[in-house]
Amino acid sequence: MTVTAEHSTHDLRRRLTGHLVAEGVLRSPGWIRAFSTVPRERFVPAFTLRTADGVRGVREGDTAYLDTVYSDASLITQRDTSGTATSSSSQPRVMATMLEALPDDDSTSVLEIGTGTGYNAALLCERYGSPNVTSVDIDPDLTAAARQRLHAAGYAPTLITGDGTAAHASDGPYNAVIATCGLPRIPQDWLAQVVPGGTIVANLGYGLTVLHTDEHDTVQGHFLPEMAAFMTARGSSSHTNGGHQGDMAALMRATGSITTVHLQCDVTAPMSRFLGGMLHPDTVDFTLTGEDGHVVHIVQHPASGAWARMTMHDTEGARIDYDGPGGRNLWGERLPLMTAWAEAGRPGPERYGLTVSGDGGHTLWLDGPGGRSWELPA
Ligand SMILES: C[S@@+](CC[C@H](N)C(=O)[O-])C[C@H]1O[C@@H](n2cnc3c(N)ncnc32)[C@H](O)[C@@H]1O
Repeated sequence: MTVTAEHSTHDLRRRLTGHLVAEGVLRSPGWIRAFSTVPRERFVPAFTLRTADGVRGVREGDTAYLDTVYSDASLITQRDTSGTATSSSSQPRVMATMLEALPDDDSTSVLEIGTGTGYNAALLCERYGSPNVTSVDIDPDLTAAARQRLHAAGYAPTLITGDGTAAHASDGPYNAVIATCGLPRIPQDWLAQVVPGGTIVANLGYGLTVLHTDEHDTVQGHFLPEMAAFMTARGSSSHTNGGHQGDMAALMRATGSITTVHLQCDVTAPMSRFLGGMLHPDTVDFTLTGEDGHVVHIVQHPASGAWARMTMHDTEGARIDYDGPGGRNLWGERLPLMTAWAEAGRPGPERYGLTVSGDGGHTLWLDGPGGRSWELPA
């Protein structure tokens, strides 16, 4: 659909909201109303987006502008000098998935980590009321711009410039924390910022986790079925979610050791990324389709240049090419994770959960805290 004069932004909002409802992502009346009400275009006057033909810039006034704003797309709004995206208005589908995991109670007080454009903060204000919303971003230019846009749209949350992974002087503790930047671990400082019984919704690696705090400084909960990777929190060690270093074409051609494996699972499956992103957060995963049509899953350790390339062949099993400068065998690390996953019947993320203990230990488990478990690296 292209936007013509008769398509008001109201109609476009209804179209996007209807799409998210039809997909089963938006379910509760409170969030449906928020998505139907908040004007996303007020928060994204200019952005770039990835298309099949490369990166395209779009700004207010362009023919495709409103149509794109109200598509289910992540809109990149800031890049650093190297071109790496550093802020965006996230994909509405992922935003809705995370927001729906927050308490369905009008008086919820919530801390958002990663103000960015301010659009998600506006949705929170629409749902819980501005006095209940605090949002923090590490970049002063972003909080300044978001403050202006939020006020112009009629919202007045508390905005803070600072590192959201650290505690800050605030109006907390909050009923909930929602992080819209990716993290390798749940920051210890958040525990004091959430009331006992409160909710933490965050992106760890490629998982979206919904955790609840208890009186003993333990945080525990499940992963949602959907996978997503936000841009990683600035200042956090490791994990460059979804990013990769160097020339992808070279990695597709690179030669190293070769092995063939016959596992009862697809080693290129998205769950490889989910488990690897959590347990080996200093590696990055990406999936490509080779010239011969085969799906190729590559794991890379940017710090050493180690890599593993996994290609599924229906009849011959999986071919693994790998090389480990610095002694890192990425395939050897991934194999036990994929084997355990296959043995468990190839579960989705929702069968995994996480316990964060008072001393900061992170335990990933399968089918309950007493089930099979793995310690996340410190
Ligand atoms: C995907 S964007 C957030 C999108 C935003 N919620 C919106 O609706 O536009 C991620 C944001 O996290 C911010 N960020 C990154 N590291 C941070 C940190 N350590 N503390 C607070 N914010 C951080 C970035 O500056 C960026 O604006």
